Amino acid sequence: RMLKRQIACRNDINRMNGGLLAIYESLIPPEEEKTKQKQLLALLDRIVRREWPDARLYVYGSCANSFGFSKSDIDICLAIEDANIDKSEVLLKLADMLQSDNLQNVQALTRARVPIVKLMDPETGISCDICVNNVLAVVNTKLLLDYAQIDVRLRQLAFIVKHWAKSRGVNETYQGTLSSYAYVLMCIHFLQQRRPAILPCLQGMEATCTVTVDNIKCGYFDKVEKLYGFGSHNGESLAPLVWAFFNYWAYCHDYANDVISVRTGSTVSKRAKDWTRRIGNDRHLICIEDPFEVSHDLGRVVDKFSIRVLREEFERAAEIMQYDPNPCVKLFEPY
Ligand code: GTP
Ligand code: MG
Repeated sequence: RMLKRQIACRNDINRMNGGLLAIYESLIPPEEEKTKQKQLLALLDRIVRREWPDARLYVYGSCANSFGFSKSDIDICLAIEDANIDKSEVLLKLADMLQSDNLQNVQALTRARVPIVKLMDPETGISCDICVNNVLAVVNTKLLLDYAQIDVRLRQLAFIVKHWAKSRGVNETYQGTLSSYAYVLMCIHFLQQRRPAILPCLQGMEATCTVTVDNIKCGYFDKVEKLYGFGSHNGESLAPLVWAFFNYWAYCHDYANDVISVRTGSTVSKRAKDWTRRIGNDRHLICIEDPFEVSHDLGRVVDKFSIRVLREEFERAAEIMQYDPNPCVKLFEPY
């Protein structure tokens, strides 16, 4: 396993493009869903303003980063300037208000890692989670959205990878596998590494937007309209990229020594970050650096059992992309 295996991609790989693109298209949310989301957001905005006139609601996560499938839940952040607020109190108060406004299944989870209120809107059938002042998530959502604008192959690849992960049961952080956010970062890193590169490293360029959140300075080049066509020297289409993505995680990534880092557009060493051993619950068996919260390893949830599950799934996917006559079916087979 430690040997880097270089296999040549099958010569009929481009025949898989049509099937993969059809799957991608089928997962894109239709316009009317976006309209319903806006409708619900406007309702929530009115409710929130009654109690906190200066507060703002931000959509983050998959409904705002362009990597959301049809029928996703909405992740919302309630931003309140007042630094002295007690998050639990705000969430309990909010839950009360939502309940009196006839929203359904309202539940305040004040002890969760990210405390939230859950609700379901009976008008639109949409569920959402509201958290308080999780501004870093709003900023990393914009970073992902900006990357997606540069080259459509990112969105295509990430949809296929997320769909694969959900089908194969490896998108469950509570079971030690990876979040959707982690998979999208893996896709961005991968496209930054292609030669010629398909994506640039936005944090390595002149910062055109900067905010400081929780003492972390978040800056990067966000004039992405200037970068359209950045990857046009690379003509790879979706199928060879999917093949190479799984091949990279199955046979090429150096799990023992490397951290993937979208921030640097490269890998950094585990040693440099002191991520070589288990510290507390963080085992660092697969290392994915958060682009802004650089001490945060999105692979921290992976344990010695789930790392095997993950690597076997990467190998399975790589084998299917290499040898299966009908990979579009086999790849997404329920586990
Ligand atoms: P699906 O709901 O599976 O479609 O994907 P999603 O894009 O909503 O991803 P996910 O539920 O994994 O995360 C939602 C958002 O929370 C992400 O877009 C990030 O902004 C943020 N987020 C998730 N996990 C982390 C984390 O470990 N650290 C930080 N800083 N942000 C996170
Ligand atoms: Mg989500």
